[in-house]
Amino acid sequence: MTGRLTVIGLGPGDPRWLTPAASEALAAATDLVGYGPYVDRVPHRQGLVRHVSDNRVELDRARHALDLAGEGRAVAVVSGGDPGIFAMAAAVFEALEEARPAWAGIDIRVEPGITAVLAAAARLGAPLGGDFAVLSLSDNLKPWDVVVRRLEAALAADFVVALYNPISKARPWQLGEALKLAARHRSPDAPVSFARAVGRPDEVLRVLPLAEAIAAAASADMATLVLIGASATRAIGGPDGRRFLYTPRSVGRMP
Ligand SMILES: C[S@@+](CC[C@H](N)C(=O)[O-])C[C@H]1O[C@@H](n2cnc3c(N)ncnc32)[C@H](O)[C@@H]1O
Repeated sequence: MTGRLTVIGLGPGDPRWLTPAASEALAAATDLVGYGPYVDRVPHRQGLVRHVSDNRVELDRARHALDLAGEGRAVAVVSGGDPGIFAMAAAVFEALEEARPAWAGIDIRVEPGITAVLAAAARLGAPLGGDFAVLSLSDNLKPWDVVVRRLEAALAADFVVALYNPISKARPWQLGEALKLAARHRSPDAPVSFARAVGRPDEVLRVLPLAEAIAAAASADMATLVLIGASATRAIGGPDGRRFLYTPRSVGRMP
């Protein structure tokens, strides 16, 4: 019997941000595989077997999901946000390179989800109206000098820069260093947003001038998405007095 493995993006938190296609894929699953907090976001139902694993065991989790699908099960591997962005879809394909005979014929699919940077941008206004770059600040899977080189290039090219995985207990100083690097390419009043737990009940959005953001770096956590504005990104007042962050679509004198 041929099994199926679908890697599903649950979105950043608000259940209304789950796509109908992702909902259908969850409804069709016999087995749910994922990191505990993501599995917890899927309602219980009869016949759905839950396989919870710890953080940072992505390859083992992917192999386990493939083994289940190899037995003919309909497996849903769940990720927060989009499963292709710093998440489980790449781990599944990495495991698939082992090409184990038991996995032959498995039907693999990926269902997209709303990634954190899109959710944060929508809350803030339109900070991604121009070109932007997305980086993970984690040096768990790549050396810190690679992070710095890529960040420096994105800042020098005047992209809006979104930083996933900005800080953790094991990586307490990297965000401060990244923002100090930004200060070499942006003015002290360039807007920096700390968007925390977007779409969840504990959501908090802050926009600070870069100079203040450097001092506030330690207040970010693993549920925070950091957005560093490009030189043209600015805050404007809306008709109801709220402030919005946006980046103009054009650069220079374009109409
Ligand atoms: C391992 S990455 C996973 C990203 C996820 N696959 C996505 O597409 O959003 C985890 C990082 O995503 C960001 N993130 C995930 N959910 C978020 C949310 N609801 N609000 C703000 N940032 C979030 C944070 O930067 C966090 O450290």
